[in-house]
Amino acid sequence: MLLRDFILTARSSLAELYGQEEAVSLVSVLCGEVLGVSSYAHVLAPETVVPDDRLPLLESSLSRLVSGEPLQYVLGHAEFCGRRFNVSPSVLIPRPETELMCRMILTELLPLCGLSSPSVMDLCTGSGCIAWTLSLSLPDASVTGMDISDEALQVASSQPFSGNAPSFFKGDLLRLSDFASLGKFDVIVSNPPYVKDSERALMRKNVLDFEPGLALFVPDDNPLVFYDAVASFSVEHLAPGGFGIVEINEALGKETADVFRSAGFGNVSVREDLSGKPRYVVFLK
Ligand SMILES: C[S@@+](CC[C@H](N)C(=O)[O-])C[C@H]1O[C@@H](n2cnc3c(N)ncnc32)[C@H](O)[C@@H]1O
Repeated sequence: MLLRDFILTARSSLAELYGQEEAVSLVSVLCGEVLGVSSYAHVLAPETVVPDDRLPLLESSLSRLVSGEPLQYVLGHAEFCGRRFNVSPSVLIPRPETELMCRMILTELLPLCGLSSPSVMDLCTGSGCIAWTLSLSLPDASVTGMDISDEALQVASSQPFSGNAPSFFKGDLLRLSDFASLGKFDVIVSNPPYVKDSERALMRKNVLDFEPGLALFVPDDNPLVFYDAVASFSVEHLAPGGFGIVEINEALGKETADVFRSAGFGNVSVREDLSGKPRYVVFLK
């Protein structure tokens, strides 16, 4: 098959779901990944033929995109804080808001607290994107990530990086008694599930159909369940002079901050993301 023919067919089959512009970009990334060709290869060399051994992967990847599966799952990786993380459908695709949380930790909160080689706990680590970003940026830090999902922990612990690797373990954040033997941490960070069940109706189909519900949803009648747990965990395990930061549901900024105030943290603030939405709660000890 000519590359030109594949590209034209692929663009038109994706245009209905993604729009023309996004379809062009998706096909360009796909061909770049699978064939190693630039986005203009079919224009500059119109007779380029897709090698027979690459065609099945190209076609199966296209079918997955047409079904609405996110590009990152199809490719098996996602960019986060300048690094390429492995992802699978058992982990949330790392989000730009979470990148900003890592940057706030590295550029603002660690210097503010005078911490250069902190011990860090990442609760609900998923792909390990937060844990790895912090451990690779802070070679003297000791970083631990925890998640309830075996599949997520498998992804987190097999990320393709060398250097100061985090350690990962399985745990249920809602069973705090399991953590009694853990020590203190200078930094506690978490991006837990925070989307209310009733908010499903507002979400895009490709998130609902393909990203793990375990990573996203909380019951409407107890939407702060994970923040209650992070606050209780932090009462026991946050070292004096340390800080915590959590990513939050933008509709529940004040309520989430109140969870940490009620747990006894005096210095609690709600921070905004780049769109000006309440997106993080920071608490100091
Ligand atoms: C919103 S995702 C965040 C993943 C990753 N930290 C990120 O920012 O991309 C939430 C994670 O919480 C995990 N999780 C859900 N319930 C949990 C529980 N009871 N205890 C520990 N982890 C849990 C899910 O498996 C998922 O990986």
